Amino acid sequence: MVSIIDALVNRHDVIVYDSESHACIMDGLRLHIGKRFAFHHNDIENCEKQLQRATKLTEVSGGGILVITEGVFGMAGDLGKLDKIAALKKKYNFRFLVDDAHGFGTMGANGRGTSEHFGVMDEIDIYFATFAKSMAGIGGFVASTKEVISYLRYNLRSQIYAKSLPMAMTLGAIKRLEIIQAHPEYREKLWTNVRALQKGLKDAGLNLGNTESPVTPVFMKGGVTQSTQMIYDLREHYNVFCSVVIYPVVPKDVVMLRLIPTAAHSLEDVDYTVKAFREIKRKVDNDEYPHEMADFTK
Ligand SMILES: Cc1ncc(COP(=O)(O)O)c(C=O)c1O
Repeated sequence: MVSIIDALVNRHDVIVYDSESHACIMDGLRLHIGKRFAFHHNDIENCEKQLQRATKLTEVSGGGILVITEGVFGMAGDLGKLDKIAALKKKYNFRFLVDDAHGFGTMGANGRGTSEHFGVMDEIDIYFATFAKSMAGIGGFVASTKEVISYLRYNLRSQIYAKSLPMAMTLGAIKRLEIIQAHPEYREKLWTNVRALQKGLKDAGLNLGNTESPVTPVFMKGGVTQSTQMIYDLREHYNVFCSVVIYPVVPKDVVMLRLIPTAAHSLEDVDYTVKAFREIKRKVDNDEYPHEMADFTK
């Protein structure tokens, strides 16, 4: 994404982007020497306002506008409003770049991503996804018109001046793509697990925010010390691994535990996880996790 953004724009162009974009988008923006305007996360009214500002500037500079957002926001699991942003193309002249790292392979009737989910595949001018999520590999891809891809082939600094993906990973990615296409049952299994997990956790009284994807955040009350003990407790005493997000990504008294089920999990795994989380919630509600940092070396 860093190199894609860098290659697509010059100093006359203006970038309009979602304020909660992933670090790789932010890093690409840092390389941009022209103007950039953030819109409030998923706020279409504000996005339109930024498009108006960008249009005014490009009318003078002669540049273009690039709008960037994500298909699935990887922290909270909410979806970028791709349909609403695409609809703005009727009023404003821009190209639309979507980072669908978490949506590719999981979202849409055929796993083609969040743009398929919203029925706007043709409106996305440049589509990016990584092989590191649904493909369980490493690397990524960018898709666009032949003309844009040909341009990117010769202008992506990350590809020209660095080692490209090893052949073993490339062949592995092609095989995984075939599996995603030929075995929709894996995606269906994933969603069976996702629905069961999210329903189970909600029924247990846990707050999952606004997720609409397999990314399953669980918001709890607590500081950094309690969150450390929570994940330690989960991992050591319940054998549940999950990542944790703490301040400054979330407010100081909020802990976000992030679960991502896979097609390889079973419904028994889901039940077990929900039970573990019920117990963690009970401990949080009873303020059982010490407020002082524990000595994990003992
Ligand atoms: C939206 C988004 N873009 C890009 C990436 C980076 O992917 P990779 O780990 O393949 O570099 C991630 C991974 O967390 C992501 O969530």
